[in-house]
Amino acid sequence: MQVKPDNYSIIIFGANSDLAARKLFPSLYELAQWGNLPDDYRIIGVGRADLSHEEFRLTLQEKMARLFPETLTDEATFRLFSGRLFYVRVDLAEIEGYHTLYHELMDVSEELGICKNLLFYLATPPSLAPVIVTNLGEAGFGDKIGICGGWRKIIVEKPYGRNLQTARELNSVIGAVFSEKRVFRIDHYLGKETVQNIMVFRFSNGIFEPLWNRNNIANVTITIAEDFGIRDRGAYYEEAGLLRDIIQNHALQLLAAVAMEPPVDFSADAVRDEKAKVLRSIRPFNTYNVEQSVVLGQYEGYRSEKNVASGSTVETFAAIKFFVDNWRWKDVPFFVKAGKNLAETATEIVITFKCPPQNYFGTAESCSYTANQVIMRIQPEETIAIKFGAKRPGEAVITDPVYLKFDYKTSFTEVGLTPYHRLLLDAMAGEQMNFIRQDSVEYSWSIVDSIRDAVGDQPPESYPVHSRGPESVERIYL
Ligand code: BG6
Repeated sequence: MQVKPDNYSIIIFGANSDLAARKLFPSLYELAQWGNLPDDYRIIGVGRADLSHEEFRLTLQEKMARLFPETLTDEATFRLFSGRLFYVRVDLAEIEGYHTLYHELMDVSEELGICKNLLFYLATPPSLAPVIVTNLGEAGFGDKIGICGGWRKIIVEKPYGRNLQTARELNSVIGAVFSEKRVFRIDHYLGKETVQNIMVFRFSNGIFEPLWNRNNIANVTITIAEDFGIRDRGAYYEEAGLLRDIIQNHALQLLAAVAMEPPVDFSADAVRDEKAKVLRSIRPFNTYNVEQSVVLGQYEGYRSEKNVASGSTVETFAAIKFFVDNWRWKDVPFFVKAGKNLAETATEIVITFKCPPQNYFGTAESCSYTANQVIMRIQPEETIAIKFGAKRPGEAVITDPVYLKFDYKTSFTEVGLTPYHRLLLDAMAGEQMNFIRQDSVEYSWSIVDSIRDAVGDQPPESYPVHSRGPESVERIYL
């Protein structure tokens, strides 16, 4: 457990959003219960709706009780927490609301001395981030121009911008108000226990790393599949699409963790240096390679979802063959597949090794049946399996695939923190290792931009709900 942090206020923009109700407030509520929040803290929800403090508290309580009935069992405990919750209505594009917010925080500061430390959280669509940050700066909230001392930090939700250009613009807007060490670009995948374990698996064991390269590995597949659609996030999805929602961040971060070189030490910048180098080495897409490398899809019925345009060409599925053009990985395909409304919900990384040079126990083709694999199940199961061939009992020599398996559930009794618990604590403590640095953001966008440009106007292929995606997905494996 981390040391109790300084007193502070957390200011959540997008306080009425789905993310706030599902992840941020429940995590803060639990952190408060576990004693991880400081003695004096306040959480200020900021939104466009016209709500009093009390109305905001009640609405949040209702939402949380509906979403997490097992967490919100005790009315009295929630009341203690909700006493720390406040609400300020801000029209995000107008400066007046930010002045109101400033005064609200000044009043709190006089009462409790906690204005000094402010953690801003932007749980808003990417297009709103620049105007919010500019207005925060104008109203005197910035890290560089704050007037009541203490620290200011900002957490920015993904997607960070909507392409390389807007990510750069956003960075320069943020850079004018907050210094880089106060900026936390969040990708909650980096807070997952099983994602953090990728580095531990690779670099705390001597037996895998010598094999972890193009000489021994045939391919890597990364799957992020969900068996549900966009839920009620039509407006957001129309702005983002799956490439921006999942590939630019979660998928490429998993790829970077699998492909990175050992860092010079286990510090935030050393680790982030190596991830940035992988992203920089990814082969860009163009009109020549896109056909055999990218399949985009849209689930049937997407266009009838709430807040979705009837002729929308936004993708809800992507299968992409990446190559990392460096000495370790040259010509090893990284197959990434992600989508909404697929057959199952699972995130998995499979590293498939090359067959032995000679197969004594079958045909050359049959080797792929027992090819060695490291299978990292990120969720819902939290396991790592190693697949190898073993002799089936009996007279004949027949090899079958068998598995050595590690499962977090049975190997450890400790319960891990959820990503939002962990990353909120990290940001409060100023630990940046599991937040994305600007260079990685830019490399990831230039890859995604190259896919978008190469695909052009071609509409996504339709696929049935709860299927494996569009049929033509097979062409990227050829
Ligand atoms: C979010 C995406 O970042 O991650 C969602 O916006 C997606 O579309 C979600 O469903 C998946 O995260 P998790 O941790 O719930 O699997």
